[in-house]
Amino acid sequence: MITLNVMRRREFICAGAAFLALATLMTMNSMSAPEAGYVGANKCGYTSEGMKCHAEDAIGNQFKIWQSSPHAGAVKTLQSLKAENIAQNVSVTNPSENKKCLKCHTTGGGNSENTKNEGVGCEACHGPGAGYYEASNHIDYIDRKKGYGKAVKNGMYPVLGIENLKKREKMCLRCHDDKRPCMPAETMEIQKQKQTIQSIDKLEKGDINFRHPLRK
Ligand code: HEC
Ligand code: HEC
Ligand code: HEC
Repeated sequence: MITLNVMRRREFICAGAAFLALATLMTMNSMSAPEAGYVGANKCGYTSEGMKCHAEDAIGNQFKIWQSSPHAGAVKTLQSLKAENIAQNVSVTNPSENKKCLKCHTTGGGNSENTKNEGVGCEACHGPGAGYYEASNHIDYIDRKKGYGKAVKNGMYPVLGIENLKKREKMCLRCHDDKRPCMPAETMEIQKQKQTIQSIDKLEKGDINFRHPLRK
């Protein structure tokens, strides 16, 4: 009888601990994308005084390249008739407001006021940039690896360089997976989208000529 009681108590404590761990995990999860964490693509391009940062040609003007890329239009895509039809098939109403779609069609899954209308922005791939943005003079014009080291130190994802190919692949495939609600049913379209997924997959094998994925 006593042993049984002890066991029950243990089970109770274990369940309690598991519950606590789960609760902590859940809070951590909802905290991993804090609203203040994302600054939005405009701030990556320009300072609040209008000075050029990543919109500077001398360092590759990633902002301009991004602006004309499909990623920048990803949230607009959700307003299309095609999006409406896809949404209907999975019982989603108002796709351009729905987190089930915003999850991959914008930065921060629609949880941040700063980014919910910008499409797949810089920080969707590079991670929340608030810490990096606040650290003044963070761009290293001479040594890009050193500059990127600062970004990572300030909380951004390590996606630059051959040693991070695997992490980068995982980051892309988080959205470019073939189980998403908008994976097409038409064979031709499936093939086209699978090609994108496969080319991302190939990166892992060490294709360092990939450069910036938004460069045409
Ligand atoms: C947050 C989700 C997300 C991440 C992360 C992401 N993508 Fe995308 N990507 C999209 C969406 C959504 C579209 C469709 C944009 C549109 O046309 O509206 C897209 C479009 C593309 C296209 C154009 C496809 C075409 O046929 O027009 C390419 C290429 C691409 N992504 C490659 C990548 C690569 C490489 C990475 C990683 C470095 C990446 N993506 C990371 C969501 C994402
Ligand atoms: C898991 C991530 C993910 C989710 C969730 C998601 N999408 Fe997408 N969506 C993508 C990616 C990635 C692409 C670009 C694929 C490509 O072109 O290779 C895309 C492309 C599209 C396109 C363009 C497709 C085409 O064939 O031209 C539409 C429209 C679309 N999504 C609508 C939606 C709608 C509506 C929802 C919500 C019901 C949704 N998506 C949810 C990742 C996602
Ligand atoms: C679809 C994902 C994605 C988006 C969106 C994106 N990037 Fe990148 N970016 C990458 C990846 C992956 C690399 C690493 C490329 C490599 O290793 O060659 C990279 C590289 C960079 C670099 C280093 C380039 C170099 O040549 O040294 C900078 C700076 C950069 N991105 C800034 C930005 C800015 C600013 C934006 C938005 C205006 C942006 N990126 C949008 C994925 C993305």
